[in-house]
Amino acid sequence: MEKYVILGGAKLEGEVEISGAKNSAVALIVATLLVDGVCVIENVPLVSDIYVLVDIINKLGGRAEFVDKGVLKVDSTQLEHCEAPYEMVRKIRASSYLMGALLGRFRQARVAMPGGCDFGVRPIDLHLKGFEALGAKYSVEAGGIVNITADDLHGASIYMDTVSVGATINIMFAAATAKGQTIIENAAKEPHIVDVANFLNSMGANIKGAGTDVIKVKGVDALHGGNYAVIPDQIEAGTFMIAAAATGGDVLIKNIIPKHLDSISAKLLEMGIEIEELDDSLRVRSSGEFKKANVKTMPHPGFPTDLQPQILTLLTAATGTSIVTENVWDNRFKYVEELRRMGANVSVDGRIAVIEGGGRLTGSPVSSTDLRAGAALVIAGLMAEGVTEIYNIKYIDRGYEDFEKKLRSLGAQITRRVDGEKGKSVVIA
Ligand code: EPZ
Repeated sequence: MEKYVILGGAKLEGEVEISGAKNSAVALIVATLLVDGVCVIENVPLVSDIYVLVDIINKLGGRAEFVDKGVLKVDSTQLEHCEAPYEMVRKIRASSYLMGALLGRFRQARVAMPGGCDFGVRPIDLHLKGFEALGAKYSVEAGGIVNITADDLHGASIYMDTVSVGATINIMFAAATAKGQTIIENAAKEPHIVDVANFLNSMGANIKGAGTDVIKVKGVDALHGGNYAVIPDQIEAGTFMIAAAATGGDVLIKNIIPKHLDSISAKLLEMGIEIEELDDSLRVRSSGEFKKANVKTMPHPGFPTDLQPQILTLLTAATGTSIVTENVWDNRFKYVEELRRMGANVSVDGRIAVIEGGGRLTGSPVSSTDLRAGAALVIAGLMAEGVTEIYNIKYIDRGYEDFEKKLRSLGAQITRRVDGEKGKSVVIA
């Protein structure tokens, strides 16, 4: 089992290039199954969730292969069947998108309930409600295999009880080739929703309104192949913004869309951290002293839940008492126990965490509980006095490309070790 070993105290300084958005890329890759043709997707982040999807597509009879670094070619013309391999599907949340894509292509899908990070219940009732509205029927068989069938798919008006990224994307997939117009109300507005709609439209779909509360999809008979590039990852960018602030550093974060980071920039400015916005980059500077703040996670354009662990970690060093309210997931504070091992003074009651700032964390062995919690623990290690070991970093590998390499290029003292590996000091030459 691999771990990170971090010697805290180094200020992050320099420039970092942000990779393609993991949560967009996973949806775009599955969307290629809707296309009876060849798609080439550029700026794909090389993270483990992507490799799982590539394997699934090849098992379904498609041909998915990297033709250059970050350039994935998918030929779905030979797609044979609509049953996704159980074990692979269980590994990642994004496999739920296979339901909408296979239903849209074949009018049938057999997909196990998806896996993914564990921070509370992760239902798919809104996905299934959307498919039913479009004319499909489903049953859940032994092992949690969801079997979805439709004689045909027709347009419908669907009001989302809860704003859901996954359900919005899955319904867009199934509606793209349905007969007639589908209206999705109370739709999610994340940047990756817009990216998926732009991808589908470039393959011949007719989707309007992505990025607003109301998305209109006019079904088309078929989608054709084409080329597309994934947008930059605003969660990776936000993670590096917070890491720069946490270490009192000065970092230029490149290859981003600053607009996607408005809520993070606003919060860091409120804390007294300097943010300079340029065309496709942001500069973050901090003296290492910053004020407390209150954070409420919300669907986009609110503060993203996927940066909640990272900003809470930063707030442990702020002057004063901060409150973080997690409004999206019902149990996304598990990692706080690990921060407490490092001396953080945080109390959690349901969806609310109260952080007594001002102290300095102390290095300690900790364990990552999910992808973004893992990234937060890395930030904690960078801030802490002494050495921190982070176990279960396979979670981090799911969503951060070259994470320790990018951090080392900014001066971080971080290295990846196989647990039990002796010797070799943490200090990186
Ligand atoms: C996506 O998950 C992201 N994952 C998550 O990022 C992110 O936290 C989440 O969106 C919110 O932004 C991917 O894109 C692969 P939701 P998703 O459907 O689609 C409830 C990361 O770290 N809900 O928007 O699963 C649900 O319980 C990951 O990159 C229903 O009730 O999230 C939650 O409370 C972690 N019924 C809320 O909606 C449903 O059918 C938002 O979930 C679906 C969702």
